[in-house]
Amino acid sequence: MSFINVNYLNLPGSYLFSEIAKRVRAYSEANPQQKLIRLGIGDVTSPLPSSVIKAMHRAVDEQGTDSGFRGYGPEQGYAFLRDAIIADAFQGLGADAEEIFVSDGAKCDVGNFQELFSLDSKIAITDPVYPVYADSNVMAGRGGPVGKDGRFAGIIYLPCTAKNNFIPDLPKERPDIIYLCYPNNPTGSVLTRTELKKWVDYAREQESVIFFDSAYEAFVAEDDVPHSIYEIEGAREVAVEFRSYSKGAGFTGLRCAYVVVPKTLFCKAQSANGKSKKVGLHGLWLRRQSTKYNGCPYVVQRAAEATHSPEGKKECASLIRAYMENAGRIRSAFARKGLEVCGGINSPYVWISLPKGTDSWSFFDALLKGAGIVGTPGAGFGPSGEGCFRLTGFGRAADTLEAVERLEGFSF
Ligand code: MLT
Repeated sequence: MSFINVNYLNLPGSYLFSEIAKRVRAYSEANPQQKLIRLGIGDVTSPLPSSVIKAMHRAVDEQGTDSGFRGYGPEQGYAFLRDAIIADAFQGLGADAEEIFVSDGAKCDVGNFQELFSLDSKIAITDPVYPVYADSNVMAGRGGPVGKDGRFAGIIYLPCTAKNNFIPDLPKERPDIIYLCYPNNPTGSVLTRTELKKWVDYAREQESVIFFDSAYEAFVAEDDVPHSIYEIEGAREVAVEFRSYSKGAGFTGLRCAYVVVPKTLFCKAQSANGKSKKVGLHGLWLRRQSTKYNGCPYVVQRAAEATHSPEGKKECASLIRAYMENAGRIRSAFARKGLEVCGGINSPYVWISLPKGTDSWSFFDALLKGAGIVGTPGAGFGPSGEGCFRLTGFGRAADTLEAVERLEGFSF
């Protein structure tokens, strides 16, 4: 018999959203008459923009012709998409098309990028956090066993609670890698430019690397909230940025994302003689991706390109507006109940502080049974998420309105 990677045994039994899906399925089977409103996982519900559909039709037709057929694509993604990304999203920020790596999802990118770092690297994550950051490091062996406090012994946790307005303090211990997600999943909080600058300055001082997950940047509405970490001076020497078409363009099913890896970002490699040398992350990620990944399909990259066209941008803006209206309604419904709410302004997520003493899995059950609404318990995102609950604005407008009505009559 062969031996497994025992680090996997340190993981929770199942991934958060698989666990929720399992519980909801069981409830639904036992109560088939109840119409459930699903505001749990951040999955989009609106049809794809028509510019995206048209682009895909054209690309599919091309694939059926001698002149238009494409096999393997370029390793980092097609130039048409990488150029469109730079022109649309990174003008004046120093990035160029060669620094863009197109992929089939930010979840895989953010889960895989840690492979470039030594196994004894110390990572820092916010708590609560998108579970992929912690779990992918636990799989690699950086987490160790989970303690009684629900935290992995090897990970530095940065608590984000109502006390600090869900904005983490700088770590007390030096991390090699800092995961930041802004606008934040799950709390919906944001960092202003001044706040993000603190992190960039800290990373420069400490020679740490920031993994900046900006999957929700398209939802930013306020002027002093950055869309990209590269809006902050000096970030190109310390940060990689993960972007996604899933939420802002509705690609959760289609799958397309990209990572920006600046050529100006270097880390150290220890050599056998004890000396260290500088190595660029750009070359390493290219090596990793060209070995383990064959690229996002041509048709999908054409679809992604369409979201950067004037028509596509207008259509995406309208999708985003509708989701943010939902988020605003959810936010107001809980505020009317006298509860503290975070998010829903620059983010599709609304993070609710439950009445003192309410545990989040019990609230999950109560809301499911009492109002037929599926949400996400804060504890699922980390110990500091206990006592909080997340709902998303990604539902259909009519369903969200119905959920808000149901909430009026729901007491806990
Ligand atoms: C979430 O609900 O937190 C997200 O949908 C997860 C994801 O994007 O993978």
